[in-house]
Amino acid sequence: MVREKRIKIKSIGIYLPEKILTNYDLEKMVDTSDEWITTRTGIKERRIAAGEQVTSDLGVEAAKMALEKAGLKPEDIDLILVATNSPDTIFPSTACWIQRKLGTREMAAFDLQAGCTGMLYGLIVSEGLILSGICRRVLLIGVDVLSKITNWEDRTTCVLFGDGAGAFVLEESQDESGFLSHCWGADGSLGELLMLPAGGTLHPASEQTVKDKLHYIQMKGNEVFKNAVKRMGEAALEAVKKAGLEKDQVDFLIPHQANLRIIEAIAERFNLDRNRVVVNIDKYGNMSVATIPVALYELQQEGKLQPGKIVVMVAFGAGFTWAASVYRC
Ligand code: ACO
Repeated sequence: MVREKRIKIKSIGIYLPEKILTNYDLEKMVDTSDEWITTRTGIKERRIAAGEQVTSDLGVEAAKMALEKAGLKPEDIDLILVATNSPDTIFPSTACWIQRKLGTREMAAFDLQAGCTGMLYGLIVSEGLILSGICRRVLLIGVDVLSKITNWEDRTTCVLFGDGAGAFVLEESQDESGFLSHCWGADGSLGELLMLPAGGTLHPASEQTVKDKLHYIQMKGNEVFKNAVKRMGEAALEAVKKAGLEKDQVDFLIPHQANLRIIEAIAERFNLDRNRVVVNIDKYGNMSVATIPVALYELQQEGKLQPGKIVVMVAFGAGFTWAASVYRC
């Protein structure tokens, strides 16, 4: 059943660091090749934050752009919600650092951590807060600077990730647009397959944890791959069904950009032509929580988000977590 009350995306902002790291650059850093990276992942280049840039720096730029596009001031927002896996600090939250950089105070601010699925989890949480009347507007920011928690000597992970940020201003919809359905889930029993082991209470930072390189992302890529294909495919189809739609009514599919082969496998389940599946992994790599807002922004820039168009967003990430949302423009 489609809800009568819905939230909508009032505006989108993004920020991408200037520095571009190509596969050819990586060939000089680890034992890899442009050919391997391109055929196994679809990635050609990615953006990397400058040395002094931290997660909140990227997030605040995306936030400012979203606020400007919405014609709002920071004070018009009731909550800053940040989805990230690479916070500035374990605490305070990156949301609080972003609030400070926006030069504002008073509104609530907190982080949400759900692997690469964070932006969709954030949408679902925001929807609950807006439709229950707790918040009028939420500034949802998805930002990751994985380059600072990547082991640049590990070719199995360092070729995959990029840095970036996206932000949505969310509020209740007064027209036909808005989120028609969501579906979400998690399986914590598979957590070890994709994790950053140290720095928390499990392995507090020590000389040994640094020596053992436990402060970097560790991933069993092929296991993550299999689970991502299964869970993203199922979640996207379930969300479409919950929206009361058939899969051939979907105009655009925005899958989390982790691997072109995963994207193609999901597109196949939808029988969608290549031009209706959003792919930008070649330019940005896996920007974790930022992939979906950046892809949606690019679709909007291309003039494709015409009123009534149906967009399905689907993601998968550490946890494992997964989610899918159906949006009517
Ligand atoms: N260059 C050259 N060779 C490489 C590289 C590289 N960069 N990386 C791995 N290899 C080698 C491996 O060592 C292995 O060699 P071997 O057969 O001699 O042992 C071979 O390539 C095959 O390795 P696989 O890991 O089996 O390769 P696969 O086809 O699975 O591709 C990849 C690896 C790209 C990581 C893929 O598994 C993948 O994309 N997984 C999903 C990642 C993902 O979805 N992450 C999402 C969440 S991210 C988040 O939440 C932060």
